[in-house]
Amino acid sequence: MSQELSRRSMLSKTAKAAALAAGPAILPALGASDRVTVGVIGTGGRGRYLTERAYAGVPSQINIAAICDTFTGNLNRGKDLVATKGGKAPATYADYRQVLADKSIDAVVIATPEHLHHRMLLDALAAGKHVYVEKPLSHTFEEAQDIMKVARTSKSVIQVGTQNRSNTLYNMAKTMIEQGMIGGCHYTRAFWYRNALPDGSGAWRYAIPADATAENADFTKFLGPAPKRDFNKARYFQWRLYWDYSSGIATDLMVHQTDVTAYVLGKGFPSSIMTSGGKNRWTVNDDREVPDTWSCLIDYDDKFHVNYSCYLGNSHFGYGEQFCGNEGTIEVINRDTLNFYPEAYNGVPAHVKARKAMSVTIPFCDNMAVEAHIRNWLNSIAGKEKPIAPVQAGYEAVVLGLLSVVSYRQGKKVLYDTKTDKYTFA
Ligand SMILES: NC(=O)c1ccc[n+]([C@@H]2O[C@H](COP(=O)([O-])OP(=O)(O)OC[C@H]3O[C@@H](n4cnc5c(N)ncnc54)[C@H](O)[C@@H]3O)[C@@H](O)[C@H]2O)c1
Repeated sequence: MSQELSRRSMLSKTAKAAALAAGPAILPALGASDRVTVGVIGTGGRGRYLTERAYAGVPSQINIAAICDTFTGNLNRGKDLVATKGGKAPATYADYRQVLADKSIDAVVIATPEHLHHRMLLDALAAGKHVYVEKPLSHTFEEAQDIMKVARTSKSVIQVGTQNRSNTLYNMAKTMIEQGMIGGCHYTRAFWYRNALPDGSGAWRYAIPADATAENADFTKFLGPAPKRDFNKARYFQWRLYWDYSSGIATDLMVHQTDVTAYVLGKGFPSSIMTSGGKNRWTVNDDREVPDTWSCLIDYDDKFHVNYSCYLGNSHFGYGEQFCGNEGTIEVINRDTLNFYPEAYNGVPAHVKARKAMSVTIPFCDNMAVEAHIRNWLNSIAGKEKPIAPVQAGYEAVVLGLLSVVSYRQGKKVLYDTKTDKYTFA
């Protein structure tokens, strides 16, 4: 296989095609009258990042007029951010229903822990708000079905926060594959590898804010529908580690990767899922419940297979998806680099051999993808586009993720029937 990545021959064509495919990123900005008045629910890490990206990418299209968080520290951080970047302090609330009751708010961003998405999304739809809901769509399969009963016919524009769909490189991969650059594709390998110090911010042991107390972090509101328990800072601020609030790797990381694989290759629901894994790396002085090791084999009805692996104790290979076609491979690595390798086996057809390997890196590509994702949502609210990650895509992604957890916890292969929307065990 050629290691010399000469890209000029293909780049101009594919870059143009990809730019077209990534349409939302190249639309002209809307006028001030089209500004959408938004409330941000959850101003933790993601809520503030989305706020920053909105101000960086679509400042003329958005007016963040309200924010909500149950931890005063993050509420204040969110307020300061909006005041600095938006020029006016937003209204602040500790109960998201107050944001929904505010008639001046057209749309909400939901960036709270996973187990709160279901209720918040349904309440937002009932209040007639447009919604950008962070992935995953829900915490359980039944919740996802419940959401779909309402969301399919809702007039609200729903964008799910799987922003890889708005990433130029994945759109380039999609275009190249549609143009036949890798031939038929029946196999994708996807992976995410991370490492961190035990007391660092990695492996989901995020630092607990020094100013957090039971008085300024409302644990009852954080728990929402989860089982009641006494105030626990680790559970509040490191919620990804506990089954009551998170499905771990499956819905935090894998869901992004299976979603974008489905997007790039035009797939829907999987037909079977089998997962193995465990807590192997983070076992000393660590009460985490979700695995740090996750291997998942996913089949689709149309002879397509995804081989997924994730490990939180080694970061060497980074993360990405490798679309392995009969005539070549396209991989997107760390969301900012696309590599193309034509097949080079003995006797490979001349037209395949003639293709040149290539590599494209776009610095800060995920930042731009998030901006494009928000822009697409706002343009969809303005009636100018359709959401690129509609609720159906969020549903397909979360069904896969949640059924992988069912498979892991039951130690069985799960079969999913698209027609009945039910699962059984093999
Ligand atoms: N798309 C992506 O690439 C991406 C990246 C990171 C996180 N996320 C998603 O964003 C969501 C939030 O993740 P995070 O990393 O920001 O978590 P976080 O813990 O940093 O922030 C969550 C915030 O929600 C607040 N909160 C908790 N309960 C609340 C309630 N009842 N009402 C209002 N606020 C409440 C918390 O106080 C906290 O500030 C998750 O669904 C996560 O999967 C997506």
